[in-house]
Amino acid sequence: MGINYNKETGIFHLKFRDVSYVMQLFRNKYLVHLYWGSKIEGKGFGHLLRVSERAFSPNPDKEDRSYSLDTLPLEYPAYGNTDFRIPAFSVEQENGSLVTDLTYHSHRIFEGKLQLEGLPSTYVEGQEEATTLEIILNDAVTGLKLILTYTVFEAFNCMTRHVKFINGGTQRLSLEKALSVSCDFHSSDYNFLQLSGAWARERHIYRRPLTYGLQSIESRRGMSSHQQNPFFALLSKEATEDSGDVYGFSLVYSGNFMAGVEVDQFDGARAFMGINPSGFRWALEPGAEFQTPEVVMTHSSKGLGDLSRNYHTLYRTRLCRGNYRDQCRPILINNWEATYFDFNSEKILDIAKQASEVGIELMVLDDGWFGQRNHDRCSLGDWVENPTKFTKGLKGLAEEINALGMQFGLWFEPEMVSPDSDLYRQHPDWCIHIEDREPSESRNQLVLDLSRDEVCEALIDQISQVLSNIPIAYVKWDCNRNLTEIGSPSLPYDRQQETAHRYVLGLYKVMETITLRFPEVLFESCSGGGGRFDPGMLYYMPQAWTSDDTDAIERLKIQYGTSIVYPASTMGAHVSEVPNHQVHRTSSLETRGNVAMMGNFGYEIDITKLSERDVHNIKAQVHKYKDIRELVQFGNLYRLKNPFEGNEGAWMYVSGDKHQAVILFAKVLAKPNEPFERIKLKGLKPELEYHLLGGEGVYGGDYLMKVGLNVPVLLGDFQSTIWRLKVLME
Ligand code: DGJ
Repeated sequence: MGINYNKETGIFHLKFRDVSYVMQLFRNKYLVHLYWGSKIEGKGFGHLLRVSERAFSPNPDKEDRSYSLDTLPLEYPAYGNTDFRIPAFSVEQENGSLVTDLTYHSHRIFEGKLQLEGLPSTYVEGQEEATTLEIILNDAVTGLKLILTYTVFEAFNCMTRHVKFINGGTQRLSLEKALSVSCDFHSSDYNFLQLSGAWARERHIYRRPLTYGLQSIESRRGMSSHQQNPFFALLSKEATEDSGDVYGFSLVYSGNFMAGVEVDQFDGARAFMGINPSGFRWALEPGAEFQTPEVVMTHSSKGLGDLSRNYHTLYRTRLCRGNYRDQCRPILINNWEATYFDFNSEKILDIAKQASEVGIELMVLDDGWFGQRNHDRCSLGDWVENPTKFTKGLKGLAEEINALGMQFGLWFEPEMVSPDSDLYRQHPDWCIHIEDREPSESRNQLVLDLSRDEVCEALIDQISQVLSNIPIAYVKWDCNRNLTEIGSPSLPYDRQQETAHRYVLGLYKVMETITLRFPEVLFESCSGGGGRFDPGMLYYMPQAWTSDDTDAIERLKIQYGTSIVYPASTMGAHVSEVPNHQVHRTSSLETRGNVAMMGNFGYEIDITKLSERDVHNIKAQVHKYKDIRELVQFGNLYRLKNPFEGNEGAWMYVSGDKHQAVILFAKVLAKPNEPFERIKLKGLKPELEYHLLGGEGVYGGDYLMKVGLNVPVLLGDFQSTIWRLKVLME
């Protein structure tokens, strides 16, 4: 069992392979946090909790001035009852009060993990993989009951947490805030690491020291967003890629979120994460329940690299689902940057023919195949093929592509509707809006109101029809705007603030139904690139389009930043034309290929317009990727050089048995008269001998990690190289 409870001390000890997480019942009443860090087997935790009378910290027990909730490390703090720090939740009562006081009621420990209802979450394949603790806390005055759920994935060093609110009283309650996690740290001597950016520069790494007061990241866009990924880490100040204490928080949710830390007067740090209380309220009638999304927390004392590998292994194997979870992903070619809206079946077939000759496996037809969609001003919602574009129909095109030995994939943007569409003309009330206000357009489109069942059902029917009638092996599920004027006329006035969360629940229901109905289809999510690259989406779709920015040099940072949480198997990475369409940079086909090969590889290029030499080189790239894709997609990542800190970026993937490795080294700008450089590798077995494939030499694992590989002289800007290492069996 990964969880022990000691009745005498009231201590809960959650045990992972290398980590301990410890809580205690304080005076058999309040659930307090004692420890989260490297595993400790011995006794002593009881001494961690120290209390003493503090000025301006009020006392819940007037007979006892020795403690206040304001100074106790709490597991799930309430609002208004002597703790002045940021609360994890608040609930409005019929008398207008927001105050509650949570005390321990009971708990249970069991093997395995229960799935969340209607929300994505990590899962087990056998009960022995995890242990779960449910702690019930009550507010005596309102009858509000909270179930705090902790699941220990022992072997992964990962824990999941979520909370269920149950209105066990007789009055109507209104949840104003319902975070998934709160976690009090004894010290605030940490750096806060976040993945932030914008469209075309998603998930850049920012690291800053904690300071007094609140520091947080949020999305209020209705989606997890390009701007802030629903993740942060706390790093001890000296922590590096390979050493030091690091703590990760990752929210399995795709909507508005809030996450951050408050540093208090005694230098403690309260970390928190969950649905953003801004634009959220949830009515709880007597007997009703509300369940928060799940947060995945992990700790490592071996630095950021180990934290990432914890997330990668868990997310790749126990969050992603479906036929493709453990399958190598096909190499695709997508026509978006090749043609934009200007295509017909002949053009697509020409691209597919040339692509099939170089070994590309999947032809993806992007935006523009339906309705009157020759530009981005119409037709979203009308998922019926445009007959003028396809001489033999879309099905005919798909079959012709199949006859080339390639699979066929199709783009959708299911959640959206263009005001200029048949769907909108029939159902103008089906979009997210507030009745007396004009809804704002973004990219000339509105968002369908997925808080309504009939809208979800209609969407499921429409998409299912296309997927049933055409041999489609892959779907790109796009989403090109955020939510504004959020409201749903189908909800009463006092439930309007539920719309944003209900939208996400509706989306999850639609994706659950469609992905289960078409298990053979590979789904890739997208939101103008990586605007919704989050664990919630990965539960339904095992890969995501990492960014609309396909420039290899920009991708060094984007893919490196994304790798902090997300495994390579989830990251779409394509070679595109030069000058690059987003940043107008020209880099070599080799570098574009090398960087894209570090994820789920593909092309966004008009291959019919390339020179013979380029086509020949693409053939070689495709061949090479087929050789390394298992290693990239399912290997373990070791980051070697941080492109945010210098002129170079490098990382490597090592196979589970450590017999193979592939290494990318990329240099941004050329330097004159450069010194010779060596790069030390990681994650190999010191005692094994590795052959450098396609090069000269055999190297000991210890040599490669302690001395390193010689970096070739790379002349010119934007240069790169890939090495492959293999242990050759006698
Ligand atoms: C945004 C996506 O990220 C692009 O790849 C492309 O599919 C366009 N949308 C199409 O509108």
